[in-house]
Amino acid sequence: MSQVFINTHPLVQHKITLLRNKNTGTNEFRSLVDEIGMLMGYEALSDLPTEDIEVETPIEKCMSPQITGRKLAIVPILRAGLGMVSGVQKLVPTAKVGHIGLYRDPVTHEPQEYYCKLPDPINERTIVVTDPMLATGGSAVSAINFIKEHGGKKIKFMCIIAAPEGLEKLEKAHPDIQIYVGHLDRELNANAYICPGLGDAGDRIFGTK
Ligand code: PRP
Ligand code: URA
Repeated sequence: MSQVFINTHPLVQHKITLLRNKNTGTNEFRSLVDEIGMLMGYEALSDLPTEDIEVETPIEKCMSPQITGRKLAIVPILRAGLGMVSGVQKLVPTAKVGHIGLYRDPVTHEPQEYYCKLPDPINERTIVVTDPMLATGGSAVSAINFIKEHGGKKIKFMCIIAAPEGLEKLEKAHPDIQIYVGHLDRELNANAYICPGLGDAGDRIFGTK
């Protein structure tokens, strides 16, 4: 099965509480998503490969680790996943960024693809897929199917809030990935929104409602 990491850090949990509040405005919401992206990225990237290089301090020469190569790709699921990119980029500014455009059909809740552009080649990169919301899991499963079809292998999925239904679906469909969850919520409602959740993440990040 996939490795699932459910975050319990007080800083992340505090920021998620602020995100949930319906009175949190667009500007603050966007900043919080960025900060949570960075904090969760810090955890998700704890296994990045390093190699020792020689460095000269003011005192003496020593061997010290650096991240090997330019081997990271961040792939947000549009639109809402975009909000988490800058946080991860602050940690690894050289990361390449791909994009997968999906939206949920409002009636069937099935993901509809409208855009895809990935760094080429993708097969040797660690790929961090970002999306604040894992609801039915349809969007995440489709995005990762697509990345795998293009040769992606080492995949991490990062979301701020997950529903149990979506997490189970993603684990079943992609048992080989690592899944990082900011908070596991109670359930989906009849409209496939996460409860208690935070509403529509894309609308709240971009101020479209
Ligand atoms: C939201 C969210 C996820 C998806 C999750 O995107 O950002 O991509 O729904 O739902 P699922 O797990 O049931 O597939 P949405 O389709 O609202 O598009 P948007 O980001 O453009 O607002
Ligand atoms: N997408 C969102 O933005 N919020 C939800 O609760 C479910 C899907």
